[in-house]
Amino acid sequence: MTKRALAALERDFAVSDREMKAIIRRFHREMDRGLSLRPGSLKMLPAYLDRPAGSEKGRFIALDLGGTNFRVLGVDLIGHGIISSAHVLKCVLHKKDITSTDKKLFAFLARSVKKFFIKEGIPPLSRINLGFTFSFPLEQEDAASGRLTAWTKGFTASGVKGHDVAALLKEALLDEGLSNVKVSALINDTVGTLAARSYSDRSCDIAVIIGTGCNACYVEKIFRIKRLAGRFGLRPGSMIINIEWGNFNKLKTTRYDKKLDSASSNPRRQIMEKMVSGLYLGEICRLVMMDLISCGELFGGKAPKALKKTMSLKGEHISAMIADGSPDRSGVRRALRGLGISGSTPTDRKAIARICKIVSTRAARISAAAIIAVATKIDGSLSVKHTVAIDGSVYEKLSGFSDCVKKTIKEFLGGKAGNIRLALTKDGSGAGAAIMAASAARQKMEDRYGR
Ligand code: BGC
Repeated sequence: MTKRALAALERDFAVSDREMKAIIRRFHREMDRGLSLRPGSLKMLPAYLDRPAGSEKGRFIALDLGGTNFRVLGVDLIGHGIISSAHVLKCVLHKKDITSTDKKLFAFLARSVKKFFIKEGIPPLSRINLGFTFSFPLEQEDAASGRLTAWTKGFTASGVKGHDVAALLKEALLDEGLSNVKVSALINDTVGTLAARSYSDRSCDIAVIIGTGCNACYVEKIFRIKRLAGRFGLRPGSMIINIEWGNFNKLKTTRYDKKLDSASSNPRRQIMEKMVSGLYLGEICRLVMMDLISCGELFGGKAPKALKKTMSLKGEHISAMIADGSPDRSGVRRALRGLGISGSTPTDRKAIARICKIVSTRAARISAAAIIAVATKIDGSLSVKHTVAIDGSVYEKLSGFSDCVKKTIKEFLGGKAGNIRLALTKDGSGAGAAIMAASAARQKMEDRYGR
């Protein structure tokens, strides 16, 4: 790749400090719009739950649906912020499951719950409370039900959008003879992650997922949630808000982003998600490579067959290519060979690693700006500590990503960055559903939200 082509790419994907400032400003504006139900790209969905107290106890079942892995967990809450080890059943969802119908998708979930009960020897008639993590945008009116507003992350199953997913689950559980299971809490994965961390850490008031999809939630004062004013007025206390930040659309996009968006299953939606999350990073890199090939800048102008295939580059390929510091980029060669691409030159490989780095750095800097925006929305001068529970394959595994997020926050905020602590909270979304199933009953008893 020529220096000129590289410089153009760097320029297109750069997120300068000035742009970060603009992103933060627009984020605050969009958050305010969402909180008062004005049209905008951030939906700011109330969860009708506050953070757990840490004293919740008992045995709960949790379901975690959000990507191609579906998990059923049995979780024992000991109280004092302690979760005893969870028993887990992992099930793989195939494309045909996530693009089928409501009946098929929820029957799959209910069958998995039944399998788990049999495996764990749970008597079929014992009453058991379940927390359901459903990692898609939900419009809720209480903590135990909610309508799907839009599918994301390639899910398209029909008959679910606009419907209460807790009711769909209950129906499917009944069909499996599981009338003893009560769906006590329905939550987003960010809310689960926040619950899991804040169960033992009161400084945690933000949770972020950067994985297949991306999103965040935070703890908001009830009197600032204008969309709930008619119902709760100026009541004291706080409630978790699912921002659905993947849909943020006030970002500078490139022609590659536009191309990816128009070929996606949800065009014009989830614009930030399509620039940041694991489902799409590989595809952006592929589109850049194909463009450079067409200009004769890569692979001698001849596209390898594997690169012509949409979505053929995955997060793990990009990660391996970025991590490779060897002089002849033998790691990149290995990753390319894994894709069935041979015959690359060291110059090609160097350029490919650079492309992956440029695309992932943009994602990390946008994520850093969004995290700063949420923290400063809660606490404008960052005067107290905010722990951000953070999870997801991109944050955890993409080479250099988490370091870049932390470095960007530090450079941008200087000394104040010390009050934002990013804490990796692995698999919190499942345990968090159990915690919220326990907490929902307590929060209802306390009648915090006036029902
Ligand atoms: C969904 C969010 C979810 C995020 C992370 C997005 O596609 O809209 O609800 O929290 O993915 O899983």
